[in-house]
Amino acid sequence: MARRTFRRGGFAVTFEAPIGVRSYLRQHFGRSKRTPFIMPAEMLTIIQPTPTPHVKHRDPMAAVAPWRPRADVPTPADATATLEEQVKSRYWYHTIELPGGIVTEGEFDHRPLVPHYGLPEDLTGKSALDVASFDGFWAFELERRGAQVTSVDVGRISSYDFPYAARRQLETEGLDRPHVPGFDIARRALDSKVQRITSNIYDLNPADHGTYDFVHVADVMLHLESPTRALRAVRSVTGDTAHIVDACRVDFDEGESQAVEYLGGWEVIVWWLPSLSTLAQMVLDAGFRSVRLHAVYVLGRKYGDGGYHRAILVANV
Ligand SMILES: C[S@@+](CC[C@H](N)C(=O)[O-])C[C@H]1O[C@@H](n2cnc3c(N)ncnc32)[C@H](O)[C@@H]1O
Repeated sequence: MARRTFRRGGFAVTFEAPIGVRSYLRQHFGRSKRTPFIMPAEMLTIIQPTPTPHVKHRDPMAAVAPWRPRADVPTPADATATLEEQVKSRYWYHTIELPGGIVTEGEFDHRPLVPHYGLPEDLTGKSALDVASFDGFWAFELERRGAQVTSVDVGRISSYDFPYAARRQLETEGLDRPHVPGFDIARRALDSKVQRITSNIYDLNPADHGTYDFVHVADVMLHLESPTRALRAVRSVTGDTAHIVDACRVDFDEGESQAVEYLGGWEVIVWWLPSLSTLAQMVLDAGFRSVRLHAVYVLGRKYGDGGYHRAILVANV
C-alpha cells in the first residue's frame, strides 16, 4: 500500500492505494499529467510462424501484348472510303447500328442490355457526360433520349494506368500511339451532335469541364490504379445523378464484406474486382450523398468468355 495526499485549493485528500493504482490517481487527480504510458508486454504479439505472402513475378512483355500491332488487322480505311468500308476495316468495342443497315461488329453488344440498364427515359433539356466513352454507344443512347451530350476518353494509349514495369516496356517497344476509337465514324454516320473531348478521368473538374445533370461512367474503374480518386473527379462534374457501372465480385458479398480482389493491372489493365458492397462504399466515400443498386448483369462478349459481373449503381450528389 502507498499513501498519497492530493491538495487542491484549501482541501487535502489522503488515499491509501495499492502501488498499481498510483499512476492512475496521479494522472487523474495529481498536479502532473505527464506520467509516461508504459506499454505492458502483453499488448504485443508476434505472429508465429511468420506467414508466407504469395506473390507472382509478372511478365511486362506479356502485359503489353494486346497493344502490339497485329498483322491480321487491316489499316483502317480513311474518310473517303464508303461507310461500310470504314466500318469493316477497323476494330469496334461497341456494336452500333448505323444508317443503311450497317452494324459495327463490336466486341460487346450492349443492345439487349439497354432496357434493363435504368437510364432515364427522357433526358430532354439535360446535359450529360459519358466518361470513358470508347466508340460512343452510351453517348449516342443518351443523345437519343434527348440529352445534350459530351463524350470523354483518353487521347493516347500511354494514358492508361499500366503497372510500372509494363509502362516501361510500352515505352521501350515504342508502342504508345493515339487512342482512336470508331467514335468519329459513328458520329458522322448518325449525324450526331455529341461533342467529343479528350481528358483523363482523373483530370475531370468543374473549372475545365463544367458540371452535367447526368454522368454515365462504365467499365473503367476496374482499369484504374486509383478508382476512388477517379470517382472523386466524376463526383466533381456531377450536377445531379451519376450512373456508375463497373465490374464486381458478387461472390464476395457474404454478409457485409467489403473485400477486393487485387489483380495489379497485369492482364488487360484490370486492377481490382471489388465486392458489390465495396464498390457502393467507394461511390459514397468519393463524396456522393446517396447510392443505390439498380441491377447486376453479366454480358457475353465476341472474344473470350462472358467476363465479370457488372453492377449498375445510381448515385446522387
Ligand atoms: C472497357 S472500355 C468501356 C467503354 C464504355 N464506357 C462502356 O462501358 O461500354 C474502357 C474505356 O475506358 C477508357 N479509359 C481507360 N483509362 C482511362 C482513363 N484513365 N481516363 C479516361 N478513360 C479511360 C478507355 O479508353 C476505354 O474507352
